[in-house]
Amino acid sequence: MNKRTLLGALALTTALVVPGAIAQAIPLTTAPAGVGHDYEPLRDAAERSGRYFGFAYAPHLAQQDANYRAIAEREFSMVTAENTMKWESVQPSEGQFNWSGADAVVDFAQANNQEVYGHTLVWHSQLPGWASNISDPTRLSTVMKDHINAVAGRYKGDIAYWDVVNEAFEDNGTRRQSVFQRVLGDGYIEEAFREARSADPNAKLCINDYSTDAINSKSTAIYNLVRDFKARGVPIDCVGLQSHLIVGQVPSTYQQNIQRFVDLGVEVRITELDIRMNTPASQQNIAQQAQDYKKVFEACWAVDGCNGVTIWGISDQYSWIPDVFPGEGAALPWNSDYSVKPALAELAQVMGATTGGSTPDPTDPPTDPTDPPTDPTDPPTDPTPGACEVTASVNSWNSGYTATVTIKNTSSQAINGWELTAALPAGHSLAQGWNAVYTQSGSTLSARNVAWNSTLAPGASVSIGFNADFQGSLGSLSGFTLNGAACN
Ligand code: XIL
Repeated sequence: MNKRTLLGALALTTALVVPGAIAQAIPLTTAPAGVGHDYEPLRDAAERSGRYFGFAYAPHLAQQDANYRAIAEREFSMVTAENTMKWESVQPSEGQFNWSGADAVVDFAQANNQEVYGHTLVWHSQLPGWASNISDPTRLSTVMKDHINAVAGRYKGDIAYWDVVNEAFEDNGTRRQSVFQRVLGDGYIEEAFREARSADPNAKLCINDYSTDAINSKSTAIYNLVRDFKARGVPIDCVGLQSHLIVGQVPSTYQQNIQRFVDLGVEVRITELDIRMNTPASQQNIAQQAQDYKKVFEACWAVDGCNGVTIWGISDQYSWIPDVFPGEGAALPWNSDYSVKPALAELAQVMGATTGGSTPDPTDPPTDPTDPPTDPTDPPTDPTPGACEVTASVNSWNSGYTATVTIKNTSSQAINGWELTAALPAGHSLAQGWNAVYTQSGSTLSARNVAWNSTLAPGASVSIGFNADFQGSLGSLSGFTLNGAACN
């Protein structure tokens, strides 16, 4: 059990539920043209090849922007805190911890069945002054280890991967002269990894850096460090290639570089992908960027042991690029208005994402074989009244929308076989859906379980989704029933 209180987790989870979205009418607000795409959730495609698709998450954006939240929930299986797990966020003053932003990331991920990539424990940047001014080695070593223990200890069991040390090298392969390097010397990286292992033995431990995508002096310095750690039994499990790239400059040695790390016996993860260009973006650069995204995903998907790609944000609107590289931007697969760039189709295709229809996920746990078999043509059983809670989020454009609907069994009995119905506003027609078999009769939409999600244990939820076209006003989804009984 980790050190977070259940109460805190519940409070934050509740705060993230769409206001007014439970069971009653779900308002469909208008959003710009081009929002959404026809692919299944990209996380499902990634999971079929045993990989994840991740993003850098900023909790305040999910609170203020429904489109951001809907995409965050639907598309990704891995969540990295863009800022809220960094030292300055969690320990701004010595011994004073503020967990709110970091907890919000873990809570969001858990509510959406996503894994968490912890970022980051030891880094020269976003390090508060009180820590970066320490000059006594004994004290800095204690402070560094206490920080690792406090943060990795609090989230023990909740974090799949930790970036233990971030950006420790210069481009020429020498050590960056951070406070840790200057005061503690070369041994600090090993000390940090050993401490992280003891704080959370089940988290995989990574070293992360930028400009390490090609075979070059910097990536070779990390290569040599990993080889040394492996030879001496120092714990290290993965190498993160940040991959903040420039359009047209995906290195030709990218895949070879990934492969050489995997050959050392560590996983490789693309941890912070974005591909920037001068703004305003030209059509030519947008087209080139699509090919670049394709190359990155192809390189990762080609190597067993390259286990996933995380993009550094969702839409250009909130990307860090224009702040740090003035005059550049347009680096992410979603435009500021949430229309998708050509890059999105390319990366979806490399992942093998399907369009339309329901796509059972073979990596989902199979239905318990001791359960009675469910034939989708049988009438569903267990119409316990009021035994369900429905939440939904909607991403709309001028003539259509994507709805993501979560059905929760709030009864004390398992539901074996289910059918959800909802009233669609006039003028809405179902286009396609996933994770259920959909039919529309007049204004009634029906979604029936598929084989792999037929059983809903007490308290369990299933997430399904569909695209619909509409004419006239967007209106509301309403009147949810499960197996004939109205949902709460
Ligand atoms: C960036 C965030 O995106 C910004 O919001 C913040 O102001 C600065 O840091 N390498 C990293 C990330 O490891 O933590 C950085 O994130 C981008 C570069």
